[in-house]
Amino acid sequence: MSDTTASAAILDRYHDTCIIGAGVIGASWAALFLAHGLNVVVHDPQPDIEQRVHDFLRKAAPTLRALELPHEGLEKNLRFEPDLARAVAGADLVQENGPERSEWKQQLWAQIEQAVPRHALLLSSSSARIATEQGQLMRDASRLLVGHPFNPPHLIPLVEVVPGTRTDPQATADAVAFYRALGKEPRVLRKEMRGFVANRLQGVIMREACYLVQQGVVTIEELDDIVTNSIGLRWAVNGPFSSFYMGGGPTGFRGYFKQFGPGMKVSWANPSPIEYTDAVAQLIIEQGDAAYGATPMAQMERRRDDTQIALLRARAGVTDEGERDA
Ligand SMILES: NC(=O)c1ccc[n+]([C@@H]2O[C@H](COP(=O)([O-])OP(=O)(O)OC[C@H]3O[C@@H](n4cnc5c(N)ncnc54)[C@H](O)[C@@H]3O)[C@@H](O)[C@H]2O)c1
Repeated sequence: MSDTTASAAILDRYHDTCIIGAGVIGASWAALFLAHGLNVVVHDPQPDIEQRVHDFLRKAAPTLRALELPHEGLEKNLRFEPDLARAVAGADLVQENGPERSEWKQQLWAQIEQAVPRHALLLSSSSARIATEQGQLMRDASRLLVGHPFNPPHLIPLVEVVPGTRTDPQATADAVAFYRALGKEPRVLRKEMRGFVANRLQGVIMREACYLVQQGVVTIEELDDIVTNSIGLRWAVNGPFSSFYMGGGPTGFRGYFKQFGPGMKVSWANPSPIEYTDAVAQLIIEQGDAAYGATPMAQMERRRDDTQIALLRARAGVTDEGERDA
């Protein structure tokens, strides 16, 4: 069976999907699901949700086109349903993207469990809340797990797939197959930990970035420029470990720790002294307005998407050549 036929067969199993919460993340998942020919029912209490999702589909069209996905007439398989039980009643798969509050997600899954077909795959986009915690009020949490995307999910490849203690391994395998059929790069974590992997890393970097700005070492714009011209570029190609493995010279990490270990001992014992306060937030807000406030958000997003797509294409091309020459 070709990859395309296999993907089509997998997506056929999840033809009827429900998106709970269609804000930044939910609308993007909806666009991707629709572009892959799935039926989407959106459940979101916002009074103008239909307009918002339609606006998003229009905004996402150039990116979907660049990804060589269908991008016109997507609305024909889209429906809105304000009643939760009715929204999930016929769903083969639910992708939850509501408020990031544990109690809210716990209540939601307990309600969904009453109305959703037993075979349905239940996925949460949560950035930090583990499935074991989310499913606490469910009688059967075997089909519930985290499928954490990166913004925007219709473009960024990674989905962190994180099963809970009650998740059936088959549900994890099903989620991986589903996301892969959508063209994503699902990665299953070996253990649940709040914040998962990528966001824990981003959290540490953001803390240090705020510290550097607070100390007046750089402005936020200068910091962004430094990152995109160094570690941002580097990490799109090599993760921190393979980068530093090469940084250690011919002996890899042996050389790396010999050279940098003593400095790491000092810096690990003395993390930068910054506390999250309103004053820190206000400083970043003001610098954010000054640096980026004059550019319309849609223009920033367009540039982000175009550059990301160019980067993904360049990376895919170079990998093959590099392997041939090695
Ligand atoms: N923004 C990101 O970069 C990002 C990335 C990955 C994952 N996430 C996760 O995705 C989830 C959604 O985040 P977001 O940034 O899209 O938030 P958002 O505020 O943009 O969207 C949340 C949506 O949920 C809706 N909602 C509120 N109450 C609801 C209810 N009772 N039933 C259904 N919908 C309801 C809101 O109307 C809103 O449209 C969170 O769990 C977040 O952690 C966010």
